[in-house]
Amino acid sequence: MSNYNFAGTHVVVIGGTSGIGRAVVEHAAAAGARVTAAARTTEDVTLPARVALESVDLASSSSVESLFERIGDFDHLVLSAGPGAMGTVRELSSDEARPFMDTKFWGYYDAVRAAAGRISEDGSITLVGGAASRKHAPGRPMMAAINAALEALGKANAIDLAPVRVNVIAPGLVDTPAYAGMPEQVRQGMLDGYAASVPAGRAGLPEDVATAAMFLMENTFVTGTVLDVDGGVQVI
Ligand SMILES: NC(=O)c1ccc[n+]([C@@H]2O[C@H](COP(=O)([O-])OP(=O)(O)OC[C@H]3O[C@@H](n4cnc5c(N)ncnc54)[C@H](OP(=O)(O)O)[C@@H]3O)[C@@H](O)[C@H]2O)c1
Repeated sequence: MSNYNFAGTHVVVIGGTSGIGRAVVEHAAAAGARVTAAARTTEDVTLPARVALESVDLASSSSVESLFERIGDFDHLVLSAGPGAMGTVRELSSDEARPFMDTKFWGYYDAVRAAAGRISEDGSITLVGGAASRKHAPGRPMMAAINAALEALGKANAIDLAPVRVNVIAPGLVDTPAYAGMPEQVRQGMLDGYAASVPAGRAGLPEDVATAAMFLMENTFVTGTVLDVDGGVQVI
């Protein structure tokens, strides 16, 4: 699965129980890392052997701080959580829109802040944002705003937290359990529509993003970057 050697490193993945984050957990564990996966739900979660599972809610600053107090020293942090924020400004009041920002922006912010004092100096932080930051589509102003804010947060922190490296991945549509609640025909239509529109000719898989995260953790010359893993959606 992986050509990397992460033996002796500790990788923490928030959102590590499903989809993209889970694929990062699997790749990092296969590369020999000690891995901690964290999410709100820890019941009935099966992860690879040697992966520790912790509970955290990114919507709560105290929950995030408590997670980092429990897990101790670590080398790499990957943040891959938060619901997709759908709805136009006509549809969402600020009260309805704010929880999306609370989880995926302020939750990431709290995690980066908690990590900053604890992460090893040759470590890295990877924020999983989203292509919606720069590729606009109807009904996604909050998704665009949150992911654009994360790209700026990542770049700015690459300066402030150096030598710790900070990068952002902007995935396009990735087939994950995030869409499990959709009617199957609608879900498949969404994936097929994406495949038909992007140069790569397919929707993404969690491992497409996980291999990008492995690269960003491993390559010590890459920081302050936004890596598009989207099948080419930004060029159409
Ligand atoms: N899939 C896509 O098409 C796509 C495209 C662009 C960007 N992204 C971004 O990629 C990231 C991962 O998406 P995914 O598709 O892999 O989603 P997913 O399969 O639904 O997994 C989400 C993970 O985040 C955890 N999570 C959700 N809310 C949380 C919270 N408040 N605190 C802590 N953990 C939380 C979930 O576990 P619990 O529910 O148990 O907490 C789960 O482990 C998200 O930021 C998403 O916006 C996804």
